[in-house]
Amino acid sequence: MKIAKTIAELKESRRQLQGSVGFVPTMGFLHEGHLSLVRQARAENASVIASIFVNPTQFGPNDDFSAYPRDTERDLALLKKESTDIVFMPEPPEMYPPNARSWVVVDGLTDGLEGGSRPGHFRGVTTIVTKLFNIVEPTRSYFGQKDVQQALVIQKMAQDLNMNLEVIICPTVRETDGLAMSSRNVYLVPEERQAALVLFQSLNLAQQLYSNGERSAERIRREMITLIEHEPRAEIDYVSIADTATLKELDKIGEKALVSLAVKVGKPRLLDNIVLGELI
Ligand code: PAF
Repeated sequence: MKIAKTIAELKESRRQLQGSVGFVPTMGFLHEGHLSLVRQARAENASVIASIFVNPTQFGPNDDFSAYPRDTERDLALLKKESTDIVFMPEPPEMYPPNARSWVVVDGLTDGLEGGSRPGHFRGVTTIVTKLFNIVEPTRSYFGQKDVQQALVIQKMAQDLNMNLEVIICPTVRETDGLAMSSRNVYLVPEERQAALVLFQSLNLAQQLYSNGERSAERIRREMITLIEHEPRAEIDYVSIADTATLKELDKIGEKALVSLAVKVGKPRLLDNIVLGELI
């Protein structure tokens, strides 16, 4: 496994690869969710490149950039075990030289949900992902459904800007009790870890109501909120039932709907989602 710390080193190693390249961009502190993306990339491509870069431009002033968990040695051992060919690990000045003036912005899709709660977040994500795509030149790139808005925004960006790759969304990986895997779960103390199950429970409730024939988004939203409010350690940011293409809130659920939520449990703000009806 080669480690490239500069863009020049990455390009030099990339030139030596033959055939398709699967790319998994990450911010490190890897868990089974990331590794499932690497495995899918491994299964579908001749070579695999992963990146580890905690991207400062997607964190707001009140976010946890400096406290974001990091464990590079462990990450590299895990990526090596999955037969990753190249790991790109630049430092911030390599990606953002002081004279950089350009941003990539996706309108509309980024207004609500995470975009509504974290102004500027998606501008940072779409800019870094574009830069990584331009540097790595992958055939396919893999994103987890846990960050569903991010995955849909990147898919749209790749389509709108005629980027020459396929953006693939892979299923959320969960702990055995249902908690969606996230690097931020490390911040949960044991009582909060238990309380965090309320996210998955509320999604199950939505699924159950939908399966029983409920089609009023408002009624499902209200039932989910009531359930979460019974957990004193949980503080709701949003509970959304939205159109899977536009991410606009729905009154009535048609063929399918994206049910997503952000809930603060102790220090971390946790995300989860499911799609009612067909898969995305
Ligand atoms: O999902 C993440 O870890 C990040 O948002 C990404 C896609 C690596 C961009 O920094």
